[in-house]
Amino acid sequence: RPRVLSGIQPTADSYHLGNFLGAVKQWVALQDEHESFYFIADLHSLTVEHDPKLLRERTYVAAAQLLAAGVDPARSAIFVQSHLPEHAELGWVMQCITGFGEARRMTQFKDKSAKGGEGASSVGLFAYPMLMAADILLYRPAYVPVGEDQRQHLELSRDLAQRFNHRFKKTFRVPEPYILKETAKIYDLQEPTVKMSKSASSPNGIINLLDDPKVTAKKIRSAVTDSETDVRFDVEHKPGISNLLGIYSALTGTSIDDIVAKYVGRGYGDFKGELADVVVDFVTPFREKTLALLDDKAELDRILAEGAATARTVASATLADAYERLGLVRPT
Ligand code: TYM
Repeated sequence: RPRVLSGIQPTADSYHLGNFLGAVKQWVALQDEHESFYFIADLHSLTVEHDPKLLRERTYVAAAQLLAAGVDPARSAIFVQSHLPEHAELGWVMQCITGFGEARRMTQFKDKSAKGGEGASSVGLFAYPMLMAADILLYRPAYVPVGEDQRQHLELSRDLAQRFNHRFKKTFRVPEPYILKETAKIYDLQEPTVKMSKSASSPNGIINLLDDPKVTAKKIRSAVTDSETDVRFDVEHKPGISNLLGIYSALTGTSIDDIVAKYVGRGYGDFKGELADVVVDFVTPFREKTLALLDDKAELDRILAEGAATARTVASATLADAYERLGLVRPT
């Protein structure tokens, strides 16, 4: 079975619909036919200022949400990044083979450091993509399911794998991105030309999976559309409606053409109202499951420990290979 690996940060009180449709939904779908490794990237969350108490809580909330979404510990290794020191260790190696200019070209760093300027950003934020490369390469996965915003980081991972293999000895597999066109980028409901994002979206532009479903329904019904009336997929001229069509399609498994056909001659109000029902039908049980899972943190700890043990067998072997090839003398 081909191997897949992906990670998600525990940076918010709730995942949003972009995280789910862009990434986690694929994690769930891939776990049957693949050997899968999914982790909570808590070390990545240290790259910006954070509250330790919140981080601890959000790590559990993250684990509970992954399980509620259908990531199954019987079929996938679910773990916390910091439980495996190998990630930080190989991260250092990745930093040492990355060029300064190469790292500076990462658009996410440019975006995230734009506010305070480069000088106000941590070195960790700069080194973030190299840690991500280590996360991936340790598991030698065939595919990495992510949203479009991670594509450039994945390209860097591929470059670093090739560079290491070429300079030392073939050690890493060059991973392929697994990015589904239809859900690669879910947009802000209020500003449908920019991606839905925990840091940049206005409260009304973002669907948080753990919000009160009533609030969520209202946000869908008041999503920004355009001055026409026909429900049609046209990203350039109708970005709002197209985004909603994408969400509808992904949550119901109905093709966009079939949805468009269903709403011929009916207005945006009908369409948005029914999409609100679709989203509520999804988030209501999701939220209940997440809250129930959070009631038993000992069980979450157990699942995460089991996942870490599985991950460790793979990660420690790869790190040992890499250290060996770098010429580091291993302890006897
Ligand atoms: P993060 O935590 O920001 O996001 C988790 C996943 O959600 C996707 N995503 C979206 N997809 C579609 N539309 C959106 N609006 C949207 N917003 C977010 C992201 O693309 C991502 O797949 N650096 C990563 C975490 C990470 C990782 C890794 C991923 C660390 N190490 C190794 C893969 C492999 C991040 O911050 O994702």
